[in-house]
Parts: sequence; structure tokens; C-alpha cells
Amino acid sequence: MIEKMKEQFEEFKIKIAASVDESEVLNLKGQVMGKDSAISQAMKSMKDISIEEKKVIGPLANQIKQDIFNLIQARLEELEWKKINDKLSKNKMDISYLDSISTNQNRIGSYHPVNIVQDRIEDIFLSMGFEVLDGPHIEDEFHNFEALNIPADHPARDMQDTFWFKEKNGEKRLLRTHTSTIQVRGMMEREAPFRFIAPGKVFRCERTDASHEMVFHQLEGMYVDKNVTVGNLIYFMKTLLSEIFEKAVDVRLRPGFFPFVEPGFELDIKCLICSGKGCSVCKQVGWVELLPCGMVHPNVLKAGGVDPEEYNGFAFGLGLDRLVMMKYGIDDVRHIHGADLRFLEQFINQ
Ligand code: FA5
Repeated sequence: MIEKMKEQFEEFKIKIAASVDESEVLNLKGQVMGKDSAISQAMKSMKDISIEEKKVIGPLANQIKQDIFNLIQARLEELEWKKINDKLSKNKMDISYLDSISTNQNRIGSYHPVNIVQDRIEDIFLSMGFEVLDGPHIEDEFHNFEALNIPADHPARDMQDTFWFKEKNGEKRLLRTHTSTIQVRGMMEREAPFRFIAPGKVFRCERTDASHEMVFHQLEGMYVDKNVTVGNLIYFMKTLLSEIFEKAVDVRLRPGFFPFVEPGFELDIKCLICSGKGCSVCKQVGWVELLPCGMVHPNVLKAGGVDPEEYNGFAFGLGLDRLVMMKYGIDDVRHIHGADLRFLEQFINQ
């Protein structure tokens, strides 16, 4: 019996070392430990054998059982690692693969037109001593409205349809409807005089059409110093447009109402899609609203911690997507956000 147990154990050792998967290991376990195996027979016979025999066979059977369990455990772990390694070596990443695809199909990445124009504007304003600021997309009522001279009951709150979050602990949060929120943050964080621009995404719950998106880009600008005039405002706006378009473009300035500026203006550009004849982008009027601006309202300066007796300034809120449309002759704002590679690839050499 002892010989039989040892013999089966030796056979088991050879077979388990050669086993290839978990089910084979479990089969081998069944054979070496099953009811017909030498170990099971030995255990069964314990009640019929002498004490001397028990003293030899018992510990030996237990030892062999323990060794079998250890071997099974070790082999299962080995096979699991082998499985993982095989899988990894099959899924090996070929880092030259994408390169060859893009070369073959002539697909190389490009900057998004909004980024191209935004970078250019940042360079222009940096060269004129402006800082470039950023701000959060999720805002509170104070930064989006109140600090901008738009109290809760002010009808101007309806000018920009707002995406609201569910009220939490009495606090109302929203997706910023304009980059003017960064005027407030910028003023509070620095001492006058200062000048900065702030590009970014804004969100409005609006119906989309050729010139309206729900998520679009604006670029805010603010200049605060002593004795700032409308003349300064017009100079900066003209410089911006002539640098961007690199050619003369027709613009018109007309009065515009925004609670945070006084006086306020709308700076429109003659539609470059239809040369002013009228199209879906300019809503058949020949002009596109592009660059609202004005002299900062004293209440806004106060809310931002600036003394309006000592300082004044101007602010503007450029419609960046519309500027991109005019610059590149894009006849629908929805192309800009459509993520269509055929559209984006046209800007590879810009
Ligand atoms: C504002 O958002 C003001 N915060 C701008 C401002 C800043 C005025 C500082 C004065 C001083 P308005 O809602 O008009 O204004 O938006 C500004 C520009 O964003 C528009 O002239 C237009 O070019 C662009 N715009 C507005 N709505 C959309 C839209 N749905 N899709 C694409 N562009 C838009």
C-alpha cells in the first residue's frame, strides 16, 4: 500500500509538471485523491490495520496529501501567470503602428480653429501687457449675475438662458453663461491698475442655428486704470480685429445694453460669409454681432473691490466662435463643434 501511494504520487508529480491548464490540474487531483486512489484506500483501511501499521501509513498518507495540495496550488498559480503573460505578449503595443497608419492615410493631427485663433489673440494681448486668466465652468449666482450688476429680480437675467443645477443646501449653481464671471474673479484677485483677457467655454440653453450653439466660446477682456476712455476701448478693439483678419474689415459700433457696462456698445462685423448681402449666419441683416463691449459700470468695480472714484475701465466679451467663422468663412457654427475630421483637417496648415 505504501509502495502504491508513493508510486502514484511520483506519477502525479510528473503529470502535474506537464499540465497545461486548470481543468487538467483538477483532473489529476481527482485521480490522485479520488476514491479509487491509493491514498483514499489507505485512509479507508486505517480502521482495519494494526497500530504499528497506522503509525507508519497515517503520517505518510497525510504528508503525501499535503504535498499534493501544495503542488496543485503552485501549479495553478504558475498557469494563471502564464495565461496573463501569453495574453500580454499577444496584445503587445506596436508604437510604430499608428505612425504608419497616419502616414499611409495622410492623417496627421491639427489644431482646432478655435485654438488657432485663441492662441493668436492671446499673443496679441500678451504683447500689449495683458494677463491671460481662466475660471470655472460651474459658477454661482454671485459671479454670473449679482457682482455684474444683475440682481435676482433684474429682467437681464433672462437675456441668457441658463443651465441650472439642482439646488443644494440652499445654494444655486449654474453653468456659466458668459466669461464675464472671470471679470469678477480677476478684479477680486488683484489690485488696480490691471488688464487681462479670459477665453473659455460658455453654456446657454438655446435653440441652435447657423450662428447659435448651446456650448460656445467667448473671450473676455478687461482693462482698468486711471482715466480710461471710450477712445482706448475702440483702439484695442480695432487693433484686435486688424491683427486677426490681416486686412481691413467693415465694422459698426452701436449702443448696446449690458447691466455691467455704461455706456455699452455692440460691435458688429460686416458678414464675411455673404459680404453683407444677407445669409443664414447674419440672419439676412448683413452684420454679425461679434464684440459687445463698454465702460465698466461703477457697481461692478465696487463689487470687485476697485474704487470707482479713482479707477475706471473697459470690458468686452468677444464671440470667439463667430470670429473664427468670419476669419475662415465657416457658414455654420455647428461645424465648429461637430468633431468631423473632414472639417478639422482643413486647418492642418494654419
Ligand atoms: C455677453 O455674453 C456679455 N457678457 C459680453 C460683454 C462682456 C459685454 C463685457 C460687455 C462687456 P452676449 O450675450 O451678447 O454678451 O454674447 C457675447 C457674444 O457671444 C455675442 O456677440 C456673440 O458673438 C456670441 N454669442 C452669443 N450667443 C451665442 C451662441 N448661442 N452661439 C455662438 N455665439 C454666441
